[in-house]
Order: sequence, then C-alpha cells, then structure tokens
Amino acid sequence: MCGIVGYIGSSEKKEILINGLKELEYRGYDSAGIAVLCSDELKTFRAVGKICNLENKCSDFLSKGFGVGIGHTRWATHGKPTETNAHPQIAEFSNIVHNGIIENYQEIKKDLEQKGHSFLSQTDTEVVVRLFEESLKHTEDGLEAFKQTIQSLKGAYAILLISVKYPGRIFYAKNGSPLVIGKGDDGVYFGSSDACVMGYVNKVVYLEDGDMGYMDVDSFESLKNIRSLEKNKAFAQKDGFRYFMEKEIYEQHKVLLETMMGRVNEEGVVLESIPEDFLEGINELTICACGTSYHAAMSGKYLLERIAKIRTNVLMASEFRYANPVMKKSELFIVISQSGETADTLEALKLAKENRLKTLAICNVDNSSIVRESDAVILTRAGIEKGVASTKAFATQMMVLWIFGVYIATQKNLLDKEGFQKQFKSMVRAIKATEVDPKLHERLKRLSKRYLHGHGFFFIGRDVFYPLALEGALKLKEISYLHAEGYPSGEMKHGPIALADSLLFTIALVPQHLLSEKIKSNVEELSARDSTICVISSQEVQAADDMVYINPAQDYMEEFFSMMVALQLLALEVAIKLGNDVDMPRNLAKSVTVE
Ligand code: AGP
Repeated sequence: MCGIVGYIGSSEKKEILINGLKELEYRGYDSAGIAVLCSDELKTFRAVGKICNLENKCSDFLSKGFGVGIGHTRWATHGKPTETNAHPQIAEFSNIVHNGIIENYQEIKKDLEQKGHSFLSQTDTEVVVRLFEESLKHTEDGLEAFKQTIQSLKGAYAILLISVKYPGRIFYAKNGSPLVIGKGDDGVYFGSSDACVMGYVNKVVYLEDGDMGYMDVDSFESLKNIRSLEKNKAFAQKDGFRYFMEKEIYEQHKVLLETMMGRVNEEGVVLESIPEDFLEGINELTICACGTSYHAAMSGKYLLERIAKIRTNVLMASEFRYANPVMKKSELFIVISQSGETADTLEALKLAKENRLKTLAICNVDNSSIVRESDAVILTRAGIEKGVASTKAFATQMMVLWIFGVYIATQKNLLDKEGFQKQFKSMVRAIKATEVDPKLHERLKRLSKRYLHGHGFFFIGRDVFYPLALEGALKLKEISYLHAEGYPSGEMKHGPIALADSLLFTIALVPQHLLSEKIKSNVEELSARDSTICVISSQEVQAADDMVYINPAQDYMEEFFSMMVALQLLALEVAIKLGNDVDMPRNLAKSVTVE
C-alpha cells in the first residue's frame, strides 16, 4: 500500500527520501515520486514502476543545503498508475503526498472547479493540495489554512505537504493511516512506519488519529509521547538469502522461541499483557482477521475449542463490518493482524469497541493502530516481515493462539500438571520442527519444476490442516500467480472433485496423528479420478504420485508446523522457477490500509 517519507535538514535530501522509499517498497506500489524544496526552489520528480525509474529521472539532481523534502510510493486507487497520478501531487506552489482515501473528494473537487481550479490528475489527493492553496487566499496563516483543509476531509489519510510560501516546514496530518515522525542528529524524518526512519533517528513519535500541524527543524521536542527507537537496521536485511521471504521462512524457529519466551515454561503460562480479570464474564471468543491472519484464526479455533473448551467464532473482517453483526458482552473480540494497520480489521475492531466488547489484539507491530485501539495485546514478536507473502508472522500467530488456548485452559482448571506439560513439550517440538531441513528444501526445489504447468492446484487437509491447506494455496497463488484453492478434504466429493484430472495438482496434507485414515481415503478418491497427487506426510501414502517427507513427529501440532514450512518452501520454489518477484508480487501490498 502507499508509503510516505519526509525530511527536514541539511543532508542530501534526494538520497534520504529515496532510501526511505526503498524501505517501504515491500508494502507494494506501482509508481513513486519525490519533491524537494531548497533555496525557494521546488523540484518534483515522479516515475511509473520501480524506484530505480525514479532514481534515473533525478540522477542529475542534487539537493545540498538546508531544505525539506517529501516522497511517496503509490498503490493506485483513484486513477491509473500513471506519472500524472503519481505523488507528490502538484498545485501552484505546493506539493503533497498522501496515503489513504479521501471519500468526499468529488464534492471538494466540484467546489474548487467552480472557483476556477483546474485539475491535472484523477487522484483524490490533488484536491487536498488545491484546497490548501484556496484556503491561503483567505488567510496568511499557513497552519490555519492547513487546519481548514484537513477539517474539510472525510476518509483516511496520512498527509505531508510542503509549500514555497512556507519553506522549512512540513505540514502533516494523520487519520486512519499510519504516520511516524522521528528526530536524528541531522534533522527531522517522517515515514509511514518506523522501518523507513530506522537507522537515521533515535527518537520517534507515532502520531494518533486527529494529530496535525507542521514541523520545522526545531519543533520535534514539542511533540507529545516521544519514544526512543533503538532498533537494529541490520535485522531487516536479507542475510544472504535470495529473497526476504526465504530468509523469513528460515528464521521461523528463532522467532517462535521469542514468541514463547517469558510466556510459557515448564511451570506454566504467564501473559503479562493480559490484565488479571480480563477473562471474567467471557464465555465465547470471536476472532476477526483477513488473509493469512484469518487462516491462523481458523486453525486457532480448533485449538481453542479443543484445549480451552471455549466456543470460538471466526470471521473475515471485510465481511463482518457491514453485516450488522450481533455482538454479546460475554464474547471477547480478538483481532489478528501482522501489520496492525489492515483497514478492514481495524474498522471491525472499532465496531466491536463501539458495541462495548472487550478486545484483544494479536499483532506483530507494536504501536500500530490496531495495538493502540485494543484493550489488551499479545505481540507475536516475529520481527519485521518484509516479504508480502506472510510466513513467519503466520507461524507466530499460530503459536500465540496455542499459548492463549493453554492460558485459558489453565485459568479454567482444565489442564492438570501432566496435561500442561504435554502442551509445553509439544510447543517446544513444534518450534524445532520449523527449522528448515536442507534435504527438504532441496527436494522441493527439484520437485517444483514438475508443478509449473497444470490447470490448477487443490490443497486439501482436515481439522487444523484444512486452514493450513487454505494458507498453502494462498501462498502459492500470491507469488506464483497459479490458480490454487484450499479445501477440507472431506468436501471433495460434494463438488470440487468434478475438476479432477491429470493436470489438476493436489497437494494433500496427511498427518500421522489426526484423522490420517480419513484423509488417505479422500486422497484415494482423487487418485481414482487421475489427479496428480503430491502428499506431504511423514509416512508413505500409496496413492501419491510424489511424496514430500516431513520428519516423523509425536503429535499433530508438530506435524502442522513441519507441513507449514514445506508449503511455504513449495510456493517459494515454484514462484522462483516462474521468474516472479517473490518479495513484491504483482497487485499485492504488504499493508492493506484501504478497505
Ligand atoms: C498474506 O500472505 C497476505 N499478503 C495477506 O493475506 C495478509 O495476511 C492480509 O492482508 C492481512 O494482513 P495483516 O495480517 O497485516 O492484517
């Protein structure tokens, strides 16, 4: 989704802005641009496509001396991904970058057109910069004009605006889209996330909805809620892997230990972030999420109902919002989100809060909008996830749901010492199972070339392995662009099996410790219809055309985490063979901040 950067200071602005935009590339974009205001001269550069196109456009431009700059990566919403629609959007003497959607832009545009403004782009953003300049016709006070502008807007936005009339200032406003301001030794920095200011600043402010004003080089200290930022930038680099996604698959066993650390040990579960009486009066859980996080919620339901004996409903956030859902005070409303900024999930959370439900966020990004909005939070601690296709975030979400299930079970006295020990040991083994076995990776590399040209994929499984099948299918389609669907294997004969033939590839998840025989029968049904079948299991399955062996396990959750890795690697290797950009797949964005 769109990304924003900004800088006030004397260092080379072009370089800082472009480096910042590169840090946001993983969010997905289709054009990019920067504007620099130095010595009363405002220069704007925009390009369609990758940031290197923008770099080529401004290769001869230098921005030495004190000044301000803003930059943007755009993921088209209003208007095609063209240079004119790229940001910064331009008016007579001001430039703006914007992340979000201005819902009432048509009205404002009409009004401005009547006042003599003509528009160059099809974007909702251009109306904001033109409205600012219109407001300046009635007041000399730049802040007042900006305030009036922002007050006229409906929708979601993070905005940075610079103007020749106010050199040395960046006007900012935030509502519904993330915006961070940081201070470093050489100036003030802005970004859509702390990832793009990391390494440059040591202090940071995560703006709240409704925050607006302007910054000059001296005004950072006047902001509220200044925090220190000590994150290590090297952490976010590729470490010799071909893609961030690959690196993130390989580091799952490490981050899962982080997820468990200080929360579960041989003695019991401690969730410090959950207030003691938090579950009082709660007899039902509702989990709401999108995409991969939704799949984690679906698998989590099986665990929560099995371990904690608590009824659990799972809802897709985009569907929940407009369905006039019936909510009960006795239900705990849980949202799951890697980014913490997904618009649908955030709005679902707000709706639950309006209905006075207790809320809990399972999230990877501290200080994100979802974290700030929730009553309680369990951070997944996956570290920065850059690959658009989520991997380690899913693994940690599953682990948090499992820990939470055990936590509720202990609170309800459902687990005796032995029962708890069993869960604890199983968690430790499951983490071990995510360590990538080089032989498995090699096998999937070789096998992947046989799965490039069919007319589609079925991913099948039962129980917790059904949402895992959905997730395997999502991973494959996101990065390989091949058609893939996940199904509960028992559903095949109710319709989907009609598609079975030798060019339909079936990836079957056959655990040894859960409904094994039932799934094998489903595999045989597909084999009898000539589907090409690849089984992921620790045991040989006769009907399989190809076997991907995982290590033998002691229980089904250990198998779940092993199979998760195999599915992620399969998607990765197929996509690489097809020559796709694994980390930035077409049409997708890492953080989906529009509904
Ligand atoms: C995962 O591979 C996807 N890119 C996507 O489905 C993602 O999980 C979804 O957009 C939800 O994002 P969130 O977890 O940041 O809320």
